[in-house]
Amino acid sequence: MKILAIESSCDETAAAVVEDGRRILSNVVISQIDIFKEYGGVIPEVAARSHLEAILPVIHKALKDASLTKDDIDYIAVTHTPGLLGSLLIGTLTARTLAILWKKPLYAVHHLKSHIYANWLGSETSAKTIFVQHGCVASHLKNRSEHSPSSQATALRKNVSAGVSQLANLPEFPLLALVVSGGHTQIIYMRAHNQFEIIGTTRDDAVGECFDKVAKILGLPYPGGPSIAECAKNGDEVRYKLPHPKVDGLDFSFSGLKTAVLRAVQAELDLPISTPSYELAGKLTEQEKADFAASFQETACDILIEKLKIALEDHPEARSVVFAGGVSANAVLREKALKTLMNGLRREKGDSRGEDVKLFFPDLRFAGDNAAMVGAAAYYEVMSGVEPTDPYELNIAPRKEIS
Ligand code: KG4
Ligand code: ZN
Repeated sequence: MKILAIESSCDETAAAVVEDGRRILSNVVISQIDIFKEYGGVIPEVAARSHLEAILPVIHKALKDASLTKDDIDYIAVTHTPGLLGSLLIGTLTARTLAILWKKPLYAVHHLKSHIYANWLGSETSAKTIFVQHGCVASHLKNRSEHSPSSQATALRKNVSAGVSQLANLPEFPLLALVVSGGHTQIIYMRAHNQFEIIGTTRDDAVGECFDKVAKILGLPYPGGPSIAECAKNGDEVRYKLPHPKVDGLDFSFSGLKTAVLRAVQAELDLPISTPSYELAGKLTEQEKADFAASFQETACDILIEKLKIALEDHPEARSVVFAGGVSANAVLREKALKTLMNGLRREKGDSRGEDVKLFFPDLRFAGDNAAMVGAAAYYEVMSGVEPTDPYELNIAPRKEIS
């Protein structure tokens, strides 16, 4: 089953062809990061215009890379919620139009489902994930054309048999998914494919948003997550003590942590709390910035892991934990998860099934926004018997919970 998947919910225009929910025949991502670096964040209208410019070349490239035509495609899938209104519109209108013209069934996929299903994507593909800066779309695609001959598809077919051995290593149900992105921080319980129960969620900011805001305070470029991770490499993670929010159960809160960093920076610089945040970064030394970045990253990751530990205690039947969303690319989070969850929790409690809990992290290419994960999620919707959506009726929803 070959699915042409489209993603445009925020500031990446992406298209991919995914076979049987796992094999990536092509994966094209055009990032707008370079545009928004200057502004320190996404400007929705600019993002929508950039999607409009990129979407058709990106889809064309995805088909070409896979050495396929529209006739080879069985389904079209697109992100329809949640995200930026204008950005979602470009992707869904394009997908609706193609579904009608090409007479293909259309699947509308929730963005967080896609992030979760990134963990099912195989790594056996020879297709490349292509990240290019926006603004050089046309020339980039032109230059890349020599890299997408049919030899790529031939190589891919050869690799499929090698990939089969990896199929056994897929997340098992029931599972817990930690979804950590720019807009969401949730723990989701999945009894089976395509069944989602939110058991914890943030009451205010998302953790990715917190990374982005703290980066701004420290004068680090957008997006904040990778900038903080990079800056923190030279930092001392215990230099600044930052508080853990007191939130009952499995819910999160990150707005207090952002304010705590702001206050700690002001205190370090001996400035009153009325000092605007944009005046602070220029006064910090490089070492202070690195120490703040490291201390913040450590605290944010500890908060996430603490809640996951509680979720695992509450759900001893869980067989896998999957990480999802942009923040799941974070190396400290991955390291802490491996150390704490695998070696700590269940053994501490004398639970002999400790080693049975498997952790899954998406391949770094699929942690951030991409369309391959949309193809994976749509595949499991098809397999779960979900009916396709009416391409004449499909609407976007800037906000909608996973269900
Ligand atoms: O999933 P994603 O690409 O888009 C949304 O659906 O929101 O997540 C973007 C978020 C941003 O807040 C970005 O700063 C964060 O993921 N992020 C990271 C890292 N890479 C991206 N946060 C921490 N560490 C990283 N390495
Ligand atoms: Zn995302």
